[in-house]
Amino acid sequence: MQSWMPPERGVFVGRQSEVAALTAGLAEHRLVTLVGTGGVGKSRLAARAAGLLPPEAFDSIHWAPLWSLGSRTLLTALVADACELSDHSARDPVDALTARIGTRRVLLVLDSCEHLVAECAELLEVLLARCPSLVVLATSREQLGVAGECLFRVDPLAPDTDGLELLTERARAVGVRWEQPEDRVAAAEVCHWLEGLPLALELAAAQLPDRPVRTMARLLRADSRSRRRPGPPSSRRASGCFAPQSDGAMNCASRMSGSFGHGCRCSARTRPWTRSYGCAAAGR
Ligand SMILES: Nc1ncnc2c1ncn2[C@@H]1O[C@H](COP(=O)(O)OP(=O)(O)OP(=O)(O)O)[C@@H](O)[C@H]1O
Ligand SMILES: [Mg+2]
Repeated sequence: MQSWMPPERGVFVGRQSEVAALTAGLAEHRLVTLVGTGGVGKSRLAARAAGLLPPEAFDSIHWAPLWSLGSRTLLTALVADACELSDHSARDPVDALTARIGTRRVLLVLDSCEHLVAECAELLEVLLARCPSLVVLATSREQLGVAGECLFRVDPLAPDTDGLELLTERARAVGVRWEQPEDRVAAAEVCHWLEGLPLALELAAAQLPDRPVRTMARLLRADSRSRRRPGPPSSRRASGCFAPQSDGAMNCASRMSGSFGHGCRCSARTRPWTRSYGCAAAGR
């Protein structure tokens, strides 16, 4: 199997059950979309799952990062590029791409579709209809709305286990270790306030050389009190009314770092696996 994937950056934490479910899902469905709030780990999970597929699963895997595309103009060209197609003929670009994929068993990963949802949906409808062995794994803050699309919701990491492990790993990468038991307790509190959101945890870890973890926990506690939040996410979860407040987590991390701005919105509130029925275009 040929594979064009981005290199992994830093240790990958947790998500074993998600990777297994996703691998199984890719064997059953032709369009799987990972949906979730910004920074929750959709791209990382997609790369991990695609990288762990057995070699016989596909003839080739292609990664198309869409985040830098400002408009639809270059969408087909970018996907063609990811599929190693350089067509200099007068052919229609979608026709050329269709011919390139043909009947090959291709896994196309479309990363960051949220700003071009309608355009991605339009292109995928054509490609999936014309290329019978094409499978698409998309990441997006919202669903694409293609018939037969399977939505896989990506949640934050569990704060007290995988979240803490990620913060600890990233802290170690910047030369910070938990010297005292109190540091570990404070690190766990940071993870709770940041709700296990991977990007927020990485932003927090990057500040640890200048801001000790106990100070960080204290600031986050004060910050949440000033905004009168009812308590750490774990207690809200225990009381049965927890819903991920990842916008809040990113805002906390942003206020601490003072500069980070991130559009965090997930309009797709789905169960982990959801099938959009209506047409078999993307079904197997
Ligand atoms: N399971 C994980 N283990 C280690 N690092 C992770 C994990 N999940 C996410 N990260 C890291 O957290 C950061 C945010 O993850 P990622 O970019 O995958 O989020 P995203 O949901 O794709 O965000 P966006 O909506 O902005 O595209 C990245 O630096 C990524 O490497
Ligand atoms: Mg992403």
